[in-house]
Amino acid sequence: MFEVLPALPADPILGLSAAFKEDTNPKKIDLGVGVYKDENGNTPILESVIKAQRLLLDSETTKTYIAPQGVAGFLTGMKALLFGASHPAVTEDRITAVQTPGGTGALRLLAELIARGNPDATVWVSDPTWANHIPIFETAGLRIEKYPYFDKASRGIRFDAMMETLNSVKKNDIVLLHGCCHNPTGQDLNQTQWQAVLEAAQKTGFIPFIDVAYQGFGDGLDEDAYGIRLLSENLPEMILSASCSKNFGLYRERTGMACVVTNSNATRQSLQTQIQSVARANYSMPPSWGAAIVDIILNDEQLKALWQSEVTDMRTRMKSLRAMLVQKLKDKGASMDFDFVNSQKGMFSFLCISPEQVKKMRADSAVYFVDSSRVNIAGISQSNVDDLAEALVKIL
Ligand SMILES: Cc1ncc(COP(=O)(O)O)c(C=O)c1O
Repeated sequence: MFEVLPALPADPILGLSAAFKEDTNPKKIDLGVGVYKDENGNTPILESVIKAQRLLLDSETTKTYIAPQGVAGFLTGMKALLFGASHPAVTEDRITAVQTPGGTGALRLLAELIARGNPDATVWVSDPTWANHIPIFETAGLRIEKYPYFDKASRGIRFDAMMETLNSVKKNDIVLLHGCCHNPTGQDLNQTQWQAVLEAAQKTGFIPFIDVAYQGFGDGLDEDAYGIRLLSENLPEMILSASCSKNFGLYRERTGMACVVTNSNATRQSLQTQIQSVARANYSMPPSWGAAIVDIILNDEQLKALWQSEVTDMRTRMKSLRAMLVQKLKDKGASMDFDFVNSQKGMFSFLCISPEQVKKMRADSAVYFVDSSRVNIAGISQSNVDDLAEALVKIL
């Protein structure tokens, strides 16, 4: 029976990793997959995570299932991190939350929950958005539409066009927003723009869905939660998916959280049964290890402080890599002004060059990144920045 299913083309990002591995050029540079890397190109385990793992190894006594909603201390710690401990939805216990297999698991679970609540909902995603957003929502049976977001020509947000679309979205449609460090563009909404999004939601009745995969990588842990807190404090309902893959470096442990901020504790309680039944029909119980580590870190003052300093180090390093690349390009006389790279946030930057130029950089200089011109800033280092800048100058 299965021979009727044709082979699919390789995933553009994962396919790029495979091509990079096969390339024998000793000077090859990998700016593809969104994984944090240090100066040596490694993705080490955070010190706070190593310490928490040791504590966990010594204290774990069973491998029986954990509770269906996940590790309790993980959920409270994550809610405090994202919404703030004194947020009214937190203190009034109005947030439905379950631990999920990564941020992707959270997105998929929430997509199915939306399909249960409003099968006719359209999900509005930014143009462009993270490549996996569209298949996740479509696989759950939801319709996708795009709202204008990034303008390659001006290297900025098409805010007027974005708002024109958002102001005409139907009540109970879903508008997917990136909490911070927009993937793929690195271009985030400022506080005034978040305010305008809030007002559009109040006017039209759309439900914001904020996806947060890089909290702490933009301006700081609290600063990056500005949009989440503004919208959830001022709207009756908001959806949120969070990933611990990047800021805790727990990629392979598949650690995330799905939340719905509701208007009352009673709705929270009934929705909790719904979201858990979606999870039950998908993977039954969440995994334990990654969430148990986050629980230990967020609920221990010393480990939390250590983790916060490690997030600050990663953020500061990525900012300095942006500045270093922009300076090198200037020094080498690039015919294009790359200053905009310094104002983009987080792990990604859109270089705003054409797919043909991206392909040429790959063929001529073994620099690997996706055709959209999204680069993983963390893949840049002192040792490869000259080669990277030269390759860019050459194709411009
Ligand atoms: C915007 C965005 N959302 C969600 C995710 C999912 O992360 P996870 O690896 O935890 O599934 C990613 C990962 O790249 C992402 O960039």
